[in-house]
Amino acid sequence: MAGRIPRDFIDDLIARSDIVDIVDSRVKLKKAGKNYQACCPFHNEKSPSFTVSQDKQFYHCFGCGAHGNVISFLIEYDRLEFPEAVEELARFHGVDVPREKGSAPPVSAEKRQQREDDYALMEKVAQFFAHQLKNHPDAARPIDYLKQRGLSGEVVKRFGVGFAPPEWDGALAAFGRSPELQQQLLDLKIITQNDKGRRFDFFRDRIMFPIRDRRGRVIGFGGRVINADDGPKYLNSPETRIFHKGHELYGLYQARQAHRALARVLIVEGYMDVVALAQFGIDYAVASLGTSTTPEHIQLLLRSTSQVVCCYDGDRAGRDAAWRALENALPYLKDGVELKFLFLPDGEDPDTLVRQIGKEAFEQKIDAESIPVSRFLFENLLGRHHVGSEEGKAALIAEAQALIDQVSGDNQRQLLEERLFKLTGQDSYRLDLQRDMAKANSATNKIQAPAKQKPAGKSQLTPVRIMLRLLLEQPELAAQCAEVQPQLLDVNLVPGLELLGEVHSYCAEHSQKNSAQVLEHFRSHRDFAVLNKLLSSDAFSVHDAIGELFAQSRQQVYRDSFAKLVERQLHSRMEELLARSRLGKLSDEEKQELKVLLSAQS
Ligand code: UTP
Ligand code: MN
Repeated sequence: MAGRIPRDFIDDLIARSDIVDIVDSRVKLKKAGKNYQACCPFHNEKSPSFTVSQDKQFYHCFGCGAHGNVISFLIEYDRLEFPEAVEELARFHGVDVPREKGSAPPVSAEKRQQREDDYALMEKVAQFFAHQLKNHPDAARPIDYLKQRGLSGEVVKRFGVGFAPPEWDGALAAFGRSPELQQQLLDLKIITQNDKGRRFDFFRDRIMFPIRDRRGRVIGFGGRVINADDGPKYLNSPETRIFHKGHELYGLYQARQAHRALARVLIVEGYMDVVALAQFGIDYAVASLGTSTTPEHIQLLLRSTSQVVCCYDGDRAGRDAAWRALENALPYLKDGVELKFLFLPDGEDPDTLVRQIGKEAFEQKIDAESIPVSRFLFENLLGRHHVGSEEGKAALIAEAQALIDQVSGDNQRQLLEERLFKLTGQDSYRLDLQRDMAKANSATNKIQAPAKQKPAGKSQLTPVRIMLRLLLEQPELAAQCAEVQPQLLDVNLVPGLELLGEVHSYCAEHSQKNSAQVLEHFRSHRDFAVLNKLLSSDAFSVHDAIGELFAQSRQQVYRDSFAKLVERQLHSRMEELLARSRLGKLSDEEKQELKVLLSAQS
């Protein structure tokens, strides 16, 4: 883990960015009045309701409600984590991202440079292999092999499939011109070294599949033999400083390139499966790299899609692999995500099957025959425990319960539990109890929900909301209205006052910041969602309720709203003092205060 990225740096980065440039480089924008428009990249639409405001450095979609600043856009559109989005933006401006020292050691400049060099070298090696497939004197052999396997030239190109030449020193001669470069080749396991210190290519006479990470950088290779008797069928790059098998999925980069939003992802076993499926139009398959599906794989996938279909052989080994995938996936089964299993007929793999039956029938098979996690879970357990006996039943319940407890989605867990109870005939008591509890919970939720949501309603233009919204739109207001000091009010007076105080203080101290920067500052604040929503709600319509208030100036509205809050505080203080005076419990000072308050009232 790298250290934190300093706030000032992020601030600065946003200040020098123009969201219009960044969005436009990914989604072509058209000028429409003061703003820019396009069809929304986050949902399907025919007429553009995606709007980018250059003034506010914000985007907002009236269709699906997507909104945010330039960093949010990169997170959503490029599907990056926050630090990656910052890095992406920094790269756009050609600057390095500094890291704070602290909890985690910062990545040193040399290390970062080395990584860049590693990625660059791996890319060149991949190009070298691709080049050999066309130009090596022996190229006819691998080309014939690929043809015989039915791969099209188009898909070979799309996946960058190449050929590692049969020589001992193909890549070594091409890239190992200095001792340093040879060391780098060794580190990246492009070449290897025997006991006598002789160095030679790791992959020889193989069909090469470059493995790319989520961002498209080549991090390793898989190589298939052409002649069946030339050693192991597949050789994979061993772990290196840039390649960690358990964290990477072959084909994920291409799948994400092919689909803005991945409705589902298919996990298959082999490189050839991914490529063949893609050739036939099923361009959303990935393969784990000769390992079983790890928790990291599942996590990685569920960041890009909400439905994962694990596609395995129907044989023993396939079912075992599927079971391990299930065990690894359970903790990530949130509500709203779906995990399914598709077992293929004996002797088939996705490559052979899709060639036989084609895209449509294959997809039909996925829809009709893949079984949900619940079914696979219980089928497997029932196959291993004898529910006929009390002991068997107890063992099944114990194992099932331990697995089910790991599921993170409340609904999914409850469904699995109900199934377990039904299956084991444990019905009434525990099940009823559970139902009652669930009902009780949902009842309290219902009572709470409207109360919680009410302040978010559009009609609720409280002074606090008006002020927050004005501040976000025009942060310099805080400095312009020096007499407005919400931080002096009692935070318990009305909801949101504490937040208003914080935002006002921040804006007052940083009067040069624009909306996007202010919002960025509060990204990790507990009320970030509130701010984000507040700014985006009607962020671009001038005729909303607040807009109409602008017959007066924004400053005036800001001051008046504050005056209302002050009045409210005085009133509440007066009420409090009055109540206590009835009980005869006021100090002399408080009596004096009440007198002043009462006279101000009249
Ligand atoms: P398979 O043996 O199922 O091969 O291995 P395949 O994918 O169908 O390959 P083709 O169709 O014969 O070309 C599945 C995956 O297991 C890993 C590879 O990742 C392979 O894609 N594997 C297999 C190895 O790492 N080494 C091996 O020797 C074999
Ligand atoms: Mn195969």
